[in-house]
Amino acid sequence: MAGSGYILALDQGTTSSRGIVFDAAMRPIAQAQEEFPQHFPDSGWVEHAPDDLWQTTLRSAQAALMQAGVTAAELAGIGITNQRETTLLWDADTGVCLYNAIVWQDRRTAALCRRLRDEGLEPLIRRQTGLLLDPYFSGTKLKWLLDNVPGARDRAEAGKLRFGTVDCYLIWKLTEGRVHATDATNAARTMLYDIHRGDWSDDICAALDIPRSLLPEVRDCAGSFGDTTLLGGSVPILGVAGDQQAAAIGQACFTPGMMKSTYGTGCFALLNTGDRAVQSQNRLLTTVAYQLNGQRSYALEGAIFIAGAVVQWLRDGLGLIQRADQTGDLAPAADAAQDLVMVPAFTGLGAPYWSPDTRGAVFGLTRNSGPAEFARAALESVGLQTRDLLEAMQADWPECDQTVLRVDGGMAASDWTMQFLADILGAPVDRPHGLETTALGAAWLAGMQAGIYPDQAGFAARWAAERRFAPVRDAAWRDAKYARWKRAVAATMSV
Ligand code: G3P
Repeated sequence: MAGSGYILALDQGTTSSRGIVFDAAMRPIAQAQEEFPQHFPDSGWVEHAPDDLWQTTLRSAQAALMQAGVTAAELAGIGITNQRETTLLWDADTGVCLYNAIVWQDRRTAALCRRLRDEGLEPLIRRQTGLLLDPYFSGTKLKWLLDNVPGARDRAEAGKLRFGTVDCYLIWKLTEGRVHATDATNAARTMLYDIHRGDWSDDICAALDIPRSLLPEVRDCAGSFGDTTLLGGSVPILGVAGDQQAAAIGQACFTPGMMKSTYGTGCFALLNTGDRAVQSQNRLLTTVAYQLNGQRSYALEGAIFIAGAVVQWLRDGLGLIQRADQTGDLAPAADAAQDLVMVPAFTGLGAPYWSPDTRGAVFGLTRNSGPAEFARAALESVGLQTRDLLEAMQADWPECDQTVLRVDGGMAASDWTMQFLADILGAPVDRPHGLETTALGAAWLAGMQAGIYPDQAGFAARWAAERRFAPVRDAAWRDAKYARWKRAVAATMSV
């Protein structure tokens, strides 16, 4: 391996694939991104063409390398991070997928999940996987593929098929079928993996009728996942983590009690609980934060479906703004005498409510309510939903009452939103210098494994906030505001 000074991070997300080249100082020096089509063949169904996932990933990797002027020989390794739970099934000999990738947002197995719940499967799933019995996760999507694609079950039982989440599929493609492996964070999202024992669950596989021969080997997040020769030379794949876990890693949330929140279309918050897998009493998920040297660290996770998407709705749905960043100017100009509350349950409510049939509402409208009031209510809804997650986390794990929240994702760039977040949480909010924490997390895993990046402690020591938002409002304001939100959510759910 010559040169060895660079790391290539591949970030395969829900709407686009990206390649980012990091230098030896962990700075991103080039990036390329490609979007791909979303397929909605039926109500509530969401699919991706497997070849789109693969080709856009490969092309963005090549384009980023080209832009950086870096060759395969100069790469010390590749780190992969990915949209989680999305499910693929392919032929072990040809690598051809039997069906499109079924995306994490896809709800086609809702009725199956209800039936399995009625049959009493949920307590087992909660206990072993830390998840809920929900269509969000891979398990019932894989069962659907085996039950609905002609010939799939027979071929699966004959050991001729392979299942994988997107990381696993990319590893298979990059290594040209030599490696069928995933990492513990992605395995933890399948609803088939026992996060306590660190192995696939025979009980759940039996209940869902899933042959074990389909399942990949589960490895540490930093380790050897084979080599690819498709980038112009042999490069080892050394790091893998699901995107939300990679963001927590990129934010150096390595100590129990540390928490990150990523504001993209939706919002995912992860609280590191160390070597304790805390079973949530408040409908949060228990998941693997990362696994290094065979040691698992766990997290409590809360997912909000609509965060940045509420601003997109103001722009594209209502036409109140032209650009998303206008909300940050509009919100402070809102009439202080009005208190609009927006519950953006466009696609139901996620944690901690898990109410798929609820739809959105706005309360407190007057004849003077206009774009500024809507903008403020929209941005506040993101903070208020984060407070819902923090409340649930504190109830599950009281030790986290001193938490500082580390934020990333597009919306974290909005000062107004971050200040409101700190005020409504009553906790400091730290924004790092780079908001590209997901790719950085994947790059660090690979670079640390390659020996060119610092170890965990060294990486954590280099993390620095660009700005800390400290709460400036008092507890009375915070509690009244949050109580009004809770009433608004309850009312919305009752309609
Ligand atoms: O659990 C789904 C999550 O991993 C998707 O993330 O960033 O691709 O929307 P993103």
